[in-house]
Amino acid sequence: MASPIGVFSQLHFTITIQMGQVKNSGYKEKIQYSDGMTNHSEPSLSTSPASLGVIGAGTMGAGIAQVASMAGWKVELMDVDEKVVQAAIEGIAKRLNRLVEKERLTPAARDEAVSRLLVATSPDCFRECDLVIEAIVEDLDVKAKVLGGIVPSLRDDAIIATNTSSLSVSRIAQALGEPYQSRTCGMHFFNPAPLMKLCEVIAGDQTSPEVVNRVTQIAQSWGKQVARAADVPGFIVNHVARPYYLEAFRILEDGYARPDDVDNAMKSLGGFRMGPLELTDLIGQDVNTATTRSVWEQLDKPPLLHPSALQESLAQAGHLGRKTKRGVYDYTTETPTPSIDTKAFPFEMSEALREAVNNFVTRAVDRPGDELQNYIFARIVGALIVQATLAFERGVAQRDDIDIAMKYGVNYPHGPFEWVTQIGTDKVMSLLDALNETVDDNRFAPPESLRVPV
Ligand SMILES: NC(=O)c1ccc[n+]([C@@H]2O[C@H](COP(=O)([O-])OP(=O)(O)OC[C@H]3O[C@@H](n4cnc5c(N)ncnc54)[C@H](O)[C@@H]3O)[C@@H](O)[C@H]2O)c1
Repeated sequence: MASPIGVFSQLHFTITIQMGQVKNSGYKEKIQYSDGMTNHSEPSLSTSPASLGVIGAGTMGAGIAQVASMAGWKVELMDVDEKVVQAAIEGIAKRLNRLVEKERLTPAARDEAVSRLLVATSPDCFRECDLVIEAIVEDLDVKAKVLGGIVPSLRDDAIIATNTSSLSVSRIAQALGEPYQSRTCGMHFFNPAPLMKLCEVIAGDQTSPEVVNRVTQIAQSWGKQVARAADVPGFIVNHVARPYYLEAFRILEDGYARPDDVDNAMKSLGGFRMGPLELTDLIGQDVNTATTRSVWEQLDKPPLLHPSALQESLAQAGHLGRKTKRGVYDYTTETPTPSIDTKAFPFEMSEALREAVNNFVTRAVDRPGDELQNYIFARIVGALIVQATLAFERGVAQRDDIDIAMKYGVNYPHGPFEWVTQIGTDKVMSLLDALNETVDDNRFAPPESLRVPV
């Protein structure tokens, strides 16, 4: 089998590496181990419905407000302008109306939930809140400034949470200083918050364990699955998911498959709701490549997370996906069709790799596919298992939390460690060894802790 880079250079792409802007969040100093924290700790305080403050009534703030009001919480919602908040409350009411129409919510429950949504006009409106979550623009200085203006009005025991996706929770907390720092944590919800089940709970350097336990209990009482994550770039989901996209692009770069071959294999064989390539078109090639490059650089450039030249060339060319009607697929036709021609060579495997792939796939799925499908599935899931194991070894989260995060944050059919248990460590190791023989960057080398029983 040819090396990915070698074959890729023969394909007809214009490759321009786009240097994404990387913010150094001080990953190495900031890592905080999540050992000893479980999802089953006793709450230090009651979790009966209480009062929430939400700053930022955009996509995420409105979604979080909806989740909390449906769970019986009173919600004070603030934005730069009262009209933005009114519009957000109207948007929530419309979404609840649709649930009533589908008979999934009673009109009385809708009316009560909407009546619990209040427009906050000043920091003083947050003085009774048990918890305040900020969901404003992703800028550390702006977040620190806005929160700094609000925290003096809060109760002495109020918890302060940030919904940041990429900034350091510790740095936001440090900007607030004591006595607020130890009461500040991350509550990372996923979009759309009312539908996505996961909430990553992140402890900053100074966050007290009671605060972590309390927000865990609150998120669970709102119907969320909680995964506890260290304060590292990408937390769990955006850290562990990277090879799902990257290895898919590398298969295209190798010239063995068309984009729809890859997506269909992951959906039909693997049970993933969306294939990796169509998912990058939905996320946006610009956003997806920037996240990859940022995580890769902050982790000291591990080969498994090396940005894909093909993917970056798409972003550079402005082929960003659904939002520009062209990415990996062309969206101008009724049924999206591949916009890049990547099938250049017949697919071939060595005998050893074929055997390792077959052993892996027959234990992972009910009905194996053809040789190419099996290979695509095994290669991408194998890369995910390596990345999840390395994340565990780096202290990003416990194995159970990683499984929860990937199942409920990105709807994977199984968590990476559940797959290891189901397939068997020996079969996983054999696959990774065989895949590693085919690459020149050692990225499939089985991590040390894979040998330790899960
Ligand atoms: N959109 C997602 O998929 C997603 C997922 C998880 C986390 N996040 C994070 O959530 C946060 C918000 O993202 P979003 O997608 O909801 O953004 P958004 O642009 O939809 O909403 C942000 C809101 O904050 C308001 N705002 C800005 N400055 C403010 C201020 N000084 N005071 C009060 N309100 C202010 C804006 O008017 C806007 O309504 C970001 O930190 C983002 O990284 C986003």
